[in-house]
Order: sequence, then structure tokens, then C-alpha cells
Amino acid sequence: MRLSPTEAFDEPLDVARVQAALRTQIIGQRIVYHASLGSTNDLAKELAEAGAAEGTLVIADEQTSGRGRLGRRWLSPPRLNLLLSLIFRPTLSPSQVQRLTMICSLAAADAIRQVAGLEAQIKWPNDILLAGKKAGGILTELGFRGDALAYAIVGLGLNVNLRAEQLPEELRGVATSIAQVAGRPIPREPLLCALLERIEQRYEQLRGGQVPVAEWAARLATLGKAVRVSEGGGTIEGYAEAVDADGALWLRLADGRSQRILAGDVTLREGNGPAS
Ligand code: BTN
Repeated sequence: MRLSPTEAFDEPLDVARVQAALRTQIIGQRIVYHASLGSTNDLAKELAEAGAAEGTLVIADEQTSGRGRLGRRWLSPPRLNLLLSLIFRPTLSPSQVQRLTMICSLAAADAIRQVAGLEAQIKWPNDILLAGKKAGGILTELGFRGDALAYAIVGLGLNVNLRAEQLPEELRGVATSIAQVAGRPIPREPLLCALLERIEQRYEQLRGGQVPVAEWAARLATLGKAVRVSEGGGTIEGYAEAVDADGALWLRLADGRSQRILAGDVTLREGNGPAS
């Protein structure tokens, strides 16, 4: 998509312009836009429960109760960033569903490269990093019919034009935005189109049986490092040795045993350099 010369960097998203430029068959073919919303994940969940089609995009310029993983809040000043949720109805088992997070984080890295020329890394399981700091995150939530997966909501928050001074003091050392690292404002609509197009391509490949685990592993900032993983109230330390096709992290423990971890929060341990 070409940027219209009139697009300013803190204007509301123009959904008609996005729809006209978007080259997808499924992802983003229905767009539900709100200037302000509680959480795009919550609305996407409601729509999915009511039968909304796969690929439905819920996007807002502001969230009043944006959610992150592990019960955290997701804060974003209005109109500067991308705050969106996609409805998927995948033929995956619940244990395979992290593959959606995998393809969406890779698609975010693809789109950032395409529009801003930057190489993003991924912090297991779902943070998007630029220059070692968090520029985005993914919150994937599931809906079931009985034991079967009925839908998955992939919620993505990407810091696009956020400036350092807009961050709370305590986040300045750990969070960033694409514009901050690129050193220039980034047009959100071309970035959104690139993101949706790359998600669709990667979803097609996933449906064809390709799981991009090697590519994902190559982008993971935490592999091959000594890490500490907090999960469900406990903490495990080990060496981050590998990831598998279902997105789990394999840790080598001090006693030589290996442990498979499905969810958690990873920090690098001392001796590795600065925590990511
Ligand atoms: C994380 O890093 O903890 C995940 C953050 C996910 C934030 C996005 S913003 C759009 C969508 N709606 C939400 O309420 N959360 C996700």
C-alpha cells in the first residue's frame, strides 16, 4: 500500500483506505473498527461466540482496558500504535494452538522489516523485541465447544509511533516502539496491511502442514542463553536449549535433566548481559 501524502501519524485509522489497499482473501476481510474500546480481544471473543467468520479483524485506536499476558495491563496512548485482534477457526488441537502465536509473531517481524527496514527478535513465547526492548506483544485466547477448539483470538499490540517520553518512567528501559528505533514516524496503515497479508500467507502455509519452527527459533532472543522462567507462581532456572513445533521451550536444568515449558515469562540470567 502507498502512503497517501495527507496521512498524518496521529490521525485515526481510515478503515476504507485499509480495505481498498488490503490484498487478502480471509484475514481482515471483515474489519470492525472502534475509535475507543475496552479491549479488542473482548469484542473479538463476543463476535466469535456469535459466529463471526474466520479472519474477522477487530481494531481500535484506543483501549480503555487493554490486557496483556499474565493479568497485566496493556497501555497505549490513542492513535499512535496498532491494537488489534483476529478471529481464527483453526483445525488445530489445543496443544498445537501456540503455532498461531508463532506465525503471527513472525508475520509481525516480516511487516516491521517491510515497512521500517528493521529486524525484530522474538522473546519466547510472544514478545516482539527491537534493539533488545519490547515493541509488541501477543495475547492468544481460546474458545471451546466441549473439548474441541472452536476459535482462537490472537490479540496483537504493536508500539508503532509511541515516543519514549510517553512511557511511564519504569518502562523506559524495557519498552520501545518501531518509530523510536527507526528514528522516523511509521505510517500505521501500510504496516497494518503488510501485517495482515503476511499473517494470511503464513496461515495458509500452516494449514498446508508447514510449521515454521526453525525460522521462529532463529528469531528467538532467548535461545542458547541461561534463563529464569516464571510460571504459575514458581520459577525455574536453566539453559534455553530448544523450542518445539508446538511452541514449547525446552530447558536444560542444572542437574542435566531437560524440562518442557509451555507458558511463562522469561528473563535472562546474570552472565548473559542485559536482561531482555
Ligand atoms: C503481552 O505482551 O502481554 C500481550 C499484549 C497484548 C496486547 C494486545 S493489544 C490488542 C489486544 N487487546 C487486548 O486487550 N490485548 C491485546
